[in-house]
Amino acid sequence: MYEMLLRFRHNCRACRRFYDEDVESVCRSETVGFVKKAEHRGSALGSYSCSGGRSPDPSTVDTYVTALVATTCWIVCLAAYRLLFHPLASIPGPRSPALTSLYSTYYDCFHDGGGQYPQKLKSLHEQYGPIIRPTPDEVHFSDLDMLDTIYATRDRNSYSAGGLMVDQSVGFTEDYAHHKLRRDALNPYFSMKAVADLEPELRVKADLLATILRQHQRSQQPLNLSDVLFAYSNDILRSFCFGADNGLLNDLAEARRQREDLAELLRGVPLQSHFKGPMRLLGGILTFIKGEAALPPALRELLAFRARIRLDIEAVLSDKSNDTKGNRGSLFHDLRDSSLPLHEKSVDRLKDEATLLVMAGTDSPRLTLAIASFYMVRVPSIMRTLREELAAARDESQSSKLSLSSLLSLPYLGAIIQEANRLSFGVTGRMRRYSPTHGVAYRASYGPYEGTCYALPPGTKMSTVTFCTHTNEQLFPDPWRFDPTRWLGQSDEVNRRKRCLMAFGKGHRRCIGVNLANASMSLALSTLAMYDMDLFETDESDVKFKYDNQISHPKRGSKGVQVVVRGKDV
Ligand code: HEM
Repeated sequence: MYEMLLRFRHNCRACRRFYDEDVESVCRSETVGFVKKAEHRGSALGSYSCSGGRSPDPSTVDTYVTALVATTCWIVCLAAYRLLFHPLASIPGPRSPALTSLYSTYYDCFHDGGGQYPQKLKSLHEQYGPIIRPTPDEVHFSDLDMLDTIYATRDRNSYSAGGLMVDQSVGFTEDYAHHKLRRDALNPYFSMKAVADLEPELRVKADLLATILRQHQRSQQPLNLSDVLFAYSNDILRSFCFGADNGLLNDLAEARRQREDLAELLRGVPLQSHFKGPMRLLGGILTFIKGEAALPPALRELLAFRARIRLDIEAVLSDKSNDTKGNRGSLFHDLRDSSLPLHEKSVDRLKDEATLLVMAGTDSPRLTLAIASFYMVRVPSIMRTLREELAAARDESQSSKLSLSSLLSLPYLGAIIQEANRLSFGVTGRMRRYSPTHGVAYRASYGPYEGTCYALPPGTKMSTVTFCTHTNEQLFPDPWRFDPTRWLGQSDEVNRRKRCLMAFGKGHRRCIGVNLANASMSLALSTLAMYDMDLFETDESDVKFKYDNQISHPKRGSKGVQVVVRGKDV
């Protein structure tokens, strides 16, 4: 201990000089003890504030010891509080996550490559029943009857926003009233009517999709559907948001680059969320010293992505003559001119909004479409049934092209989309809700503590991950089987499934893009159904949920869904 202090205290030039000169005599002649400050203070380099010396200063040692004792006491008291006296102390589950959120950090960031907490939560529920404590201040449910209670709660905890840096977007606005202000400004653009008006633009993109399929039918070159579907969704979203797209459907290499960049960015989300402060500090320091090239790839991509979006927003804000608005108008031109308060229309705020819209609106439909098309190609009966449904609808309408409203009314096409949404798991992280004013009473409905009542005080964060709901064996027997027929008919069972499907979330913060997503996905799948395809170097592990990076990611190194287009059906 003494040696350690001596070394530490000599870590200044004044002390070092004295120590270096006289080190032998110090070691030999001094008894281990403390010298008075006055003996050493005022050396040649007297401007140093350090008191220096050959032995530790008692007051400094006192400070360290006090700090150590205080920290230990604090940790012991906090641990005792969390385990014994915390309002959630009686919630079942292992003690480690009740004690420290490092438990969730471990599963989110490190265990088996990170992104493993949903799977762990499911196994904990199997052991401890429907309510557990995933972190010290939070409860997690695996109880279908609790979905409405959780998602009727008004405030949304936006902890995970740290990873995406979209803190000012509607999706990550915590407070109910503030969220409502932002959501109300966006709602009109996402209504059924607004989306129906988009049909011509959506059809142009679907026709481009068909052109790509035809080209690959001729060339017989493998086609990466994940890239094409990313381009399709991104072009739709960008022209919807900014009045013009980036033409990704005409540049599939760029689409691949952006898709992989976004995947890389999302892979960094768990680390960014848990280590928000340090990661931002590290990013700042590295950028300052070595420029952006020195940043970890995920952070670099996030910054590049945000920089691109910022340019789009600045272009809209400076486009006073509406040159870039396009014929139909654009969401951000309209937001710019809306009656939202000025601070809600700043570049930074709108950049966050646009970043979320483009990311969510591109990657989630891309994922659902990739899953749906994989199973359509892999399971011939699914493709056959869909084609029969489409052919019957075409006969009925006596038209070779089905209108958007006809497509949206087709049960089997809708069932494929529902099933793909189920296995996409929507947002895979914990979408936490809480009420600052209202508590919740809960009685465990199964498991070792069945019948036990729990009182959750106001402010308790509650969530349930889609992984638990969408793989619930009672609701979805053989849950990993892709089976659209689960969604057909009007039985109580089917209606219950529909009520419990959490891919778009639930309640007043449910995904705003549901109508747009359903429209664009119906058009894309009806286009894909016209072609005979074989899978190319692709299997189920290329679409199956493996990592929770806010949205589902498959195995590392997956190239996505690749096909060879053999011919055209109709
Ligand atoms: C298959 C496609 C999609 C899926 C599975 C999906 C899923 C989700 C989920 C689970 C949420 C979170 C709800 C919550 O916090 O409880 C959400 C929110 C959101 N989504 Fe989507 N989404 C999809 C498509 C889209 C599209 C096409 C857009 C936009 C153009 C979009 C924009 C948003 C926005 C802005 C929010 C935040 C809503 C709010 O907090 O009020 N999403 N989405």
